[in-house]
Amino acid sequence: MGKKNEIVMSGIRPTGYLHLGNYFGAVKNYVRMQDEFECYFMVADLHSLTTHPDTKELKANVHRVLSENIACGLDPDKVALYCQSHVYETSELYLYLNMMAYKGELEKTVTFKDKARQHPDNVNAGLLTYPVLQTADIILHRALYVPVGKDQEQHLEMARNFANRFNHRYGEVFPEPQAFNYGSELVKVPSLDGAGKMSKSENQFATLYLSDDDDMIRKKVMKAKTDSGPTEPGSVKPDYIENIFLLMKLVSTDEVIQKFEEDFNKCTIRYGDMKKQLGEDMVRFIAPIREKAESIRNDETYLKGVMEKGAEKARKSARATMELVREAIGLKYF
Ligand code: TRP
Repeated sequence: MGKKNEIVMSGIRPTGYLHLGNYFGAVKNYVRMQDEFECYFMVADLHSLTTHPDTKELKANVHRVLSENIACGLDPDKVALYCQSHVYETSELYLYLNMMAYKGELEKTVTFKDKARQHPDNVNAGLLTYPVLQTADIILHRALYVPVGKDQEQHLEMARNFANRFNHRYGEVFPEPQAFNYGSELVKVPSLDGAGKMSKSENQFATLYLSDDDDMIRKKVMKAKTDSGPTEPGSVKPDYIENIFLLMKLVSTDEVIQKFEEDFNKCTIRYGDMKKQLGEDMVRFIAPIREKAESIRNDETYLKGVMEKGAEKARKSARATMELVREAIGLKYF
């Protein structure tokens, strides 16, 4: 399929390791979009300074997040894959947008209130204006679609407000960015302990990371909650059993799933066997990604090339936008 001219932009936090929930909830969407749109995917290293002023681990984290995303199928030749701090135009646009962002609306942002509560000793202005920086990231490329999860909806709404405010004040420069994902619902990957979805902040043992080794994967899967099995044919599955089937649907073949569905319905299911199968299928899914990510991470020359090429693409688009922005604001004196 040929690419549409529409522009996609999203940011990836350089904190934490990628897990299965990130893969099916976000990265898979990016990989699909790269063939259909002009895409800008950025590692939000400047944003991380709002909550992680200590930068000792930053370089390793940036390298890891780039490696993991490439290993999942993001192609640096198809998209602009870059670091936020390499595109200085972001900071300039952030400054202009800050003049249009009101203290009151920033203080009302849910993520700001949460983070202020978590780090009461570091409620800095960067934290307050986090959504302004995020807006700059997006509209710097005049992006239309932003693949993000539900937790980012308020930031997206603020981005629309800031973009519209700019257009109103200085003339039409920016389209309205909107959240975008394939399908109406994002794929939710259930956690292995039967409670909620996989996430890095919850139970570590209930989350499968793309960096987990084979034994760790098997061990985590075997620990998933089950019971002694249904006693009546055609029983309704309890949530935690439904979750195991959901996980299977992500990585196992149709025949395997069908077999266990039938066993469940006939009350002959053995959850130990089911989890063993799921463990092996998870290993088959995760191991190649883990190995690819590791080899990329160890290739600093390759990563440097990726970052340089990505920054160059992003800056080209950023420069064009900033010409329009400065002119619209009235900063052209000669
Ligand atoms: N705030 C986003 C998050 O926490 C990361 C992010 C930064 C982002 N800049 C962005 C997402 C621009 C979309 C577009 O996940």
